[in-house]
Amino acid sequence: MARTHIRPIREEDADRVRRILQVAFVDEYRRMGQKNSRIPTMTDRLLAFYLGRAPRYSFAAERRGGLIGFCLACRWGSTAWMGPVAVLPPAQGEGVGKRLVEASTAELRENGVITLGVETMPRSYRSLQFYSSLGMNFACLTLDMSRTFRRKNHVKASTELIDDMEIRTLGAMSRQERVQAEGSVAEISDAVSPGLDYRSEVKATLHHGLGETILAYWKDRLAGFAVVHTEPYAKEEIPGTVRVNILLLRSLEEEAPGVDRLFEGMIVLVEQWIGKEGYDAAIVRVPVRYVGVRDCLLRRGYSISHSDVRMTYADMAEADRPGTVHLSKWE
Ligand SMILES: CC(C)(COP(=O)(O)OP(=O)(O)OC[C@H]1O[C@@H](n2cnc3c(N)ncnc32)[C@H](O)[C@@H]1OP(=O)(O)O)[C@@H](O)C(=O)NCCC(=O)NCCS
Repeated sequence: MARTHIRPIREEDADRVRRILQVAFVDEYRRMGQKNSRIPTMTDRLLAFYLGRAPRYSFAAERRGGLIGFCLACRWGSTAWMGPVAVLPPAQGEGVGKRLVEASTAELRENGVITLGVETMPRSYRSLQFYSSLGMNFACLTLDMSRTFRRKNHVKASTELIDDMEIRTLGAMSRQERVQAEGSVAEISDAVSPGLDYRSEVKATLHHGLGETILAYWKDRLAGFAVVHTEPYAKEEIPGTVRVNILLLRSLEEEAPGVDRLFEGMIVLVEQWIGKEGYDAAIVRVPVRYVGVRDCLLRRGYSISHSDVRMTYADMAEADRPGTVHLSKWE
């Protein structure tokens, strides 16, 4: 059999990555019993964002000069995750996937990452077996909670809370304010989980024109931020959906509302911003340990539209500070 060579991913791998992703996932959906499923074609913008996130930690598998698989990685300070990971179906079961994930893992571990894992499909028993055999444990389910804004079916947050809160977008800030805001993003990330740093995500989102970062204040005190994607992910997608991929809130001083109340106020303001900007739907990714967030979104008319399972290496689990909110999407 021809040798398989593992090497860091390159920008020019983009088309082949998109193709392998489609073929490998359609095949996996078929195995999961979804016979006629289609995988949407990822936009060039999203693909460039994915490939550019952490090329040093993302690997490709090559056989006779052609790409047969890849493992993309993303790093936010001391936290990192891998995905998507895919190998062309005829080359599966030969140890290529394992070599790819082990290459990313080794590079990330050697360079100071202390939290590391993946998010995968709970119904894909092969993936659960694959990551389990690599030493990962089940951390939690993560939900996509979605709603459209055509129907007026939400419960309003108390005006008093909203009156004390304000949001500001990074895109509307001056250069100087933006630099300061990026510093605040680092400060809040670290307050929620020591070593975590979302600055690279904030910069990449802006750089690729994928969306915005929204900072939330309670009585002029910075409480948290959200990184939202406003551009379509697939070529077939109708524009208009805002994806709240990351949302952090820290606990403020004693007289301030708790983080669940701050979340409620923040989401109301984010929804108002969504309406003002002309978008008409939102998807929020929620790790299920944030029960207060889930319940707030249910009250506001969101419904669960997708679930993934988060897995982390036994010695590299997430360790967020209590009394904080940390919504994130490892995808
Ligand atoms: C998941 C995937 C990347 C694994 O790649 P691969 O090259 O087939 O995996 P490997 O050959 O390295 O196998 C590593 C381990 O995975 C498990 N595995 C692989 N194929 C399997 C199968 N058909 N059934 C059950 N477990 C399997 C085994 O535990 C194996 O370890 P072992 O060889 O020591 O028994 C590949 O199957 C794939 O592309 N799937 C579709 C896309 C996907 O689901 N990606 C993961 C979610 S992000």
